[in-house]
Amino acid sequence: MNTLVVGSGIAGLTAALHAHEAGRAVTIVTKAALGDGCTGFAQGGVAGVYGPQDSAAQHASDTLIAGAGLSDAAAVDVLVAEGAMRIAELIARGVAFDRSADGELLLGREAAHSHARIVHAGGDATGAAISRALVAAVRRTSIEVVEDAFLIDLIVRDGAVRGIRLLIDGSTADLAADAVILATGGAGHLYAHTTNPAGTTGDGIAAALRAGAEVADLEFVQFHPTILAAGPAFLISEAVRGEGATLIDDAGRRFTFDVHPDGELAPRDVVSRAIARQATAQGSPVRLDATTIGASALAQRFPTIDRVTRERGFDWAREPIPVTPAAHYLMGGVVTDLDGRTSLPGLFAVGEVARTGVHGANRLASNSLLEGAVFGARAAAALGSPRASDRPLPAETIPLNLANTASFRDGNERGPFSRVALQQVMWDEVGLLRTDDSLADALDTIRAWRAGATAAHTVADHEDVNLLLLADATASAALARTESVGAHYRSADRIEAPQLETV
Ligand code: SIN
Repeated sequence: MNTLVVGSGIAGLTAALHAHEAGRAVTIVTKAALGDGCTGFAQGGVAGVYGPQDSAAQHASDTLIAGAGLSDAAAVDVLVAEGAMRIAELIARGVAFDRSADGELLLGREAAHSHARIVHAGGDATGAAISRALVAAVRRTSIEVVEDAFLIDLIVRDGAVRGIRLLIDGSTADLAADAVILATGGAGHLYAHTTNPAGTTGDGIAAALRAGAEVADLEFVQFHPTILAAGPAFLISEAVRGEGATLIDDAGRRFTFDVHPDGELAPRDVVSRAIARQATAQGSPVRLDATTIGASALAQRFPTIDRVTRERGFDWAREPIPVTPAAHYLMGGVVTDLDGRTSLPGLFAVGEVARTGVHGANRLASNSLLEGAVFGARAAAALGSPRASDRPLPAETIPLNLANTASFRDGNERGPFSRVALQQVMWDEVGLLRTDDSLADALDTIRAWRAGATAAHTVADHEDVNLLLLADATASAALARTESVGAHYRSADRIEAPQLETV
């Protein structure tokens, strides 16, 4: 059986390795170099359950609370039950998670976790360590790797996915397969400010939508609260707040307790909105004060952040640094069952491209690498039965309806299409706070741009087509969900979204 894995983050590499180890012929197709993508940028770590005080039940409970009642409990149970096995597998594949002098795994704390349970590597370079180990593991096998190959579309025949169409070096190429595992990540570049690396343009979700696969929960976009507000978006891990850093306004006051008893460790959406409101009120970015952690502890625990903040002119051991939210993670995506099967026979989805139901309306920190590993392995195990998923979506899920143009008012005040203009519309109007008006305005603009779109030839053209489709789908989903829940926040008043300062 020939399996194509599209994407090479933790989910795709795990799926590919498991499929190969089960004796299947596997080809990994990836947009850039093997291992490029979001996984390598992950700082925080992987949520596990260690020590007598913690339990899988508490990890599940934290995940469900973060998900604001919209997580799928069965998917969460799978995640926490199989998480330890997948972390052990990562260790066996060569990931050196940080340990104490006596060899115990060091556990970090992040927002909305009831326990310190985040394993990390290289301090704040967890994703890079995982990516290196999994890429090396793949390189030791006979798995075929096709790099710099852009996914144009899924090939669907007789109602089933039979392969993929690629753009390689300016030419199209079709690859046939018995099963395709999408592991193409999210769509952070829908937004003007994002933690995601270039290339995160939602290509897999867009291809799945065009092929007719079920997609849901696109209204749930997670904004990470703390990106350095100076220079190109750079994440300051939540683990820094987990170690005691505080968020202060321009008078030096901790303002997050005004909105949540957990203060800086409240759920991400709460902290992000509090930062946005405060920054707008004071007319300048709020600051993250990590000075109490100490210079040597900061350098040792967060070597990457220590280096980058210093490169940008800040001594964070001595002065608070400016921070602002940015788009970080998409909770929605291609709907799957507990084994990565989608609504299309032959098509699986794993990692951020998938909507497994684990994250509900808001992902718990450090659950995403875990989800990629757990569901990547499960999808590989399910390749023998690539039938369509028959798992129904929960009643609270609002079906995506792109045909609904009720809000389309046929106007566009934003001028001609450019990717930057689209990203600004999404940031301003489909971002941290959404109003009826902002969403309707966004749809006007996006649909006018879509109507004027011309044929795609280059990778950038195809990415633009995908971003426009996903922008439409995201704004439509956000408009359809009239209540605020989790990361989707409907506000009565429009407030200005904070803009990152760029160098
Ligand atoms: C972080 O380090 O703050 C990001 C971790 C995550 O998104 O899970």
